[in-house]
Amino acid sequence: DKAGFKHFMAKEIAEQPAVLGNALAHYVKDGQINLPAGVAFAGLDRLTLVACGTAFYACSVAKYWFESLAGLPVEIDVASEFRYREPPMPARSWAIFVSQSGETADTLAALRYCQGKVEKTVAVVNVPTSSIAREADLALPILAGIEVGVASTKAFTCQLLVLALLALKAGHDRGHLDDAQLAAHLAALARLPGLIHQALAVAPEIEKLAEHLAEAQDVLFLGRGPMYPLALEGALKLKEISYIHAEGYASGELKHGPIALIDRTVPVVVMAPHDRLFDKTVSNMQEVLARHGQVLLVSDARGAAEAGAGTWACLRLPEVAEPFAPILYAIPAQLLAYYTAVAKGTDVDQPRNLAKSVTVE
Ligand code: M6R
Repeated sequence: DKAGFKHFMAKEIAEQPAVLGNALAHYVKDGQINLPAGVAFAGLDRLTLVACGTAFYACSVAKYWFESLAGLPVEIDVASEFRYREPPMPARSWAIFVSQSGETADTLAALRYCQGKVEKTVAVVNVPTSSIAREADLALPILAGIEVGVASTKAFTCQLLVLALLALKAGHDRGHLDDAQLAAHLAALARLPGLIHQALAVAPEIEKLAEHLAEAQDVLFLGRGPMYPLALEGALKLKEISYIHAEGYASGELKHGPIALIDRTVPVVVMAPHDRLFDKTVSNMQEVLARHGQVLLVSDARGAAEAGAGTWACLRLPEVAEPFAPILYAIPAQLLAYYTAVAKGTDVDQPRNLAKSVTVE
């Protein structure tokens, strides 16, 4: 049931404030992170995060969080590489497998590879009865509800939320965050459903921009820090449902090659909240503007005031606590892909050549 929406994807994007609110209510009780008793990170030397597609980008964001909030070294890989690479696994480590369906063949094989080699395997899944959930030592549901659209939206933000809570738990367990710092981060997460609700109000603006984006042959997405994997996710979302060629890059990589692509016909989406890396990202954005690239700056009021001049368009999101910006900025990335696909008339919920669950390698 699309509940009055034109597509499941639109419904699932709109559901995010509610499902994230539910997940927060489940995992945070009386100001404390509510995870099963065995979830303790104090004695670990390393975490390994493995997934495919959008779930891999959630892991890629989480790597920044585990490192910065908990001082915990993290290795990430896509499951199809990880499983055949057969990497050595430190004994004092956990491996976390992130999957919406819980049935992705490569992710399941990666989980089986880690069994008996690491202290604990953990599944972060949407389908609690899935193979990955059943075979892991511990399964943590992301509580996104059924996701029908092939393009993952609410599962991505719910994966990020659960991973953020794990990173905060790790930070507290390892003495990187004291009680007050933990409380401040939890308060920042609690504000996200409201902020996402506000971000959804940008939809009409994005719908107008999408008409122009639909004409593009290539689109670049740029970001720095935890916004870099979000740039990768924005590009994946756009290509899978609008069939426009899109690439995500770390902003600092621009001058190492992709800047050669820039001309008047290439839109460049710059994901840049006004954070400590903002000036760096803006200087990369200026390099695009100097070559007549069409920049869509996705930022906040401060960022727009400082750097909006000369851009093709500028989206203003509410301000958000720095580490968790990728959760909020996922919304415009999803909406850009959605409205561009609608403008092109593609089959949004069932894009060509793709399946919701990839159970063969
Ligand atoms: O069910 P999973 O989360 O394991 O699926 C992983 C990918 O196949 C999936 O995220 C895919 O990239 C989506 N279509 C992206 O929107």
